[in-house]
Amino acid sequence: MTEARGKLRGVIALDGPSGTGKTTVSRGLAVRLDAAYLDTGAMYRAATLAVLRAGLDPAGPAASAVAAEADIRVGTDPSASTVTLRGEDVAAEIRSGPVTDAVSVVSAHADVRARLVALQRRIIDDVLAGQVGGIVVEGRDIGTVVAPDAALKVYLTASAEVRAARRNQQDRAAGRGGDLAATLSAVRRRDSLDSGRALSPLRAAPDAVTVDTTDLDVEDVLDLVFALADQRGLVAEVVRSSR
Ligand code: DC
Repeated sequence: MTEARGKLRGVIALDGPSGTGKTTVSRGLAVRLDAAYLDTGAMYRAATLAVLRAGLDPAGPAASAVAAEADIRVGTDPSASTVTLRGEDVAAEIRSGPVTDAVSVVSAHADVRARLVALQRRIIDDVLAGQVGGIVVEGRDIGTVVAPDAALKVYLTASAEVRAARRNQQDRAAGRGGDLAATLSAVRRRDSLDSGRALSPLRAAPDAVTVDTTDLDVEDVLDLVFALADQRGLVAEVVRSSR
């Protein structure tokens, strides 16, 4: 097998529901492309953690205000992603069950989205203006709202069953255990909340390339997205080596 590396100029937007391999593909791609990486889901998760720590109902107006004002910072190094809330490292806690259960509700608030989208755009602009010059951004509304001018938009999908099985495996590997039927119903619930919300619902941008990852492994998806970026002239200094 041949692995290609290079240097990204511009923005690659990767959207789709959870369990499609989005995070692994986005980070791997950023490493191969010597680019920055932004996990926007981690920002909504950190906002949700702020709400839960304040003991608020995630659906209420007080939650919306707390989440919108939370001091959230995220790093953009794909090899060492960091997320802090008021200066505290919360990278592990934002993956906990209570945060995962509440995040779709918190992320549907208009002021939370407005604040985090503004923050995401600022981070992207800073990277594009700086030395690194390229960024892979993952989320639900990157191609449609956050970076509608992204040079490449990819929308990853997979069957709900395969996504639940992947999530279950990740949870077990992280020592969180989990029952497959419960994971499948949680995946379906989150899909319906994320796709059905009024503001920036999860959907492919009209100009996105849709990739169904049901029968693909993550390295195949990475190769495919790298090739798309290369075809669009976004990659400089391409080097191919066998792996
Ligand atoms: O990618 P993830 O599973 O960590 O995302 C967590 C939640 O955050 C997801 O259920 C919906 C929300 N989200 C969003 O609304 N918009 C984004 N750009 C990213 C995530």
